[in-house]
Amino acid sequence: MEKKATVNRRANFFNIRYASDTIKRGGIVAFPTETVYGLGADAFNPIAVAKVFEIKSRPFFDPLIVHIASVADLDKLVFNCTQEAYLLAKKFWPGPLTLVLPKKKQVPGIVTAGLPTVAVRMPGHPVALKLVKASGCPIAAPSANKFSYLSPTKAEHVRKHLAGVDFILDGGKAKIGVESTVISLSGNKFRLLRHGAIPAERILQAVPGLKLSEAISEPVVSPGMLKEHYSPNKPLFIVGGYFPKNYQIKKAALLSFSGENTRGYRLIKRLTRDKDLKEYAANLFSALHYLEETDVEFIAVEPVPEQGIGLAIMDRLRKAAWKYQKNLTAA
Ligand code: TXA
Ligand code: MG
Repeated sequence: MEKKATVNRRANFFNIRYASDTIKRGGIVAFPTETVYGLGADAFNPIAVAKVFEIKSRPFFDPLIVHIASVADLDKLVFNCTQEAYLLAKKFWPGPLTLVLPKKKQVPGIVTAGLPTVAVRMPGHPVALKLVKASGCPIAAPSANKFSYLSPTKAEHVRKHLAGVDFILDGGKAKIGVESTVISLSGNKFRLLRHGAIPAERILQAVPGLKLSEAISEPVVSPGMLKEHYSPNKPLFIVGGYFPKNYQIKKAALLSFSGENTRGYRLIKRLTRDKDLKEYAANLFSALHYLEETDVEFIAVEPVPEQGIGLAIMDRLRKAAWKYQKNLTAA
């Protein structure tokens, strides 16, 4: 049996102190953010960062996001930070926007997977900010899940699925529930590398003269733009207009957005009462974690409108469905 981490009941002064001491001595701490839970290590300690990759079974070609506690901390990581980057940081931080910018040479190559850029964000959860401050170093942290598996939105998801974590800080359920928007910036242009809680329109509006240079469908510029990701351990299908052959509806759970066309399913999970996409996003991963524990054989998902955070939701659902849906023909 591998060692399971201790989870504190709720983060407080004492366990944040313990968690930051753990980071300082090269240990690994899972901590809450407003998007999903992160798996953190001192970003300037390559051996600690290597443990994060190992615990997640994450390939070394996929770089990590570095978490900071003030806009001023950007200068510890980023080489020649631009005016546009500062403006975006001031507008959206603390919050779910990750900026990919040229890195300083002091940032270890393992953090950035050898890329000349580093991804940085200031998380909007008070426990995460206190942890970074108390640790006295930026914290490199991917989402605290096994590579390509469901993201964790509660401390218990981390405890169940990851072995080898030294300490898990419990900050309750993540408010947003999908990961940060990732953009790379070059002068007054940005590329959207991952849909997230902040839609591109809001970024465009925030800085005068800023332009969106490439759509997300570009060939891989961010290793995390993999087709298969966020998958539960049982088949998941997006059921827009057809139903997969060889699967029986009475053995399925339905993740419902509208509350319509629910007949015949074994179990129905309604993630929002009011077609509220934010509420849906906040409940999505915990519903999938829950459905894994039930006896349903597969999960059918009603698509949601691709507006605002709906773009991030559909991105996660398509990736979760990819390995199951790629060879299907409509029934
Ligand atoms: O909300 C979030 O962003 C969460 C919380 C914990 O902060 N973190 C998270 O990390 O989602 P992760 O590792 O699951 O996703 C990081 C994404 C990946 O798609 C990765 O490829 C991309 O950011 N990324 C990191 N550094 C990059 C770089 N230098 N260039 C391009 N993409 C980068
Ligand atoms: Mg992730």
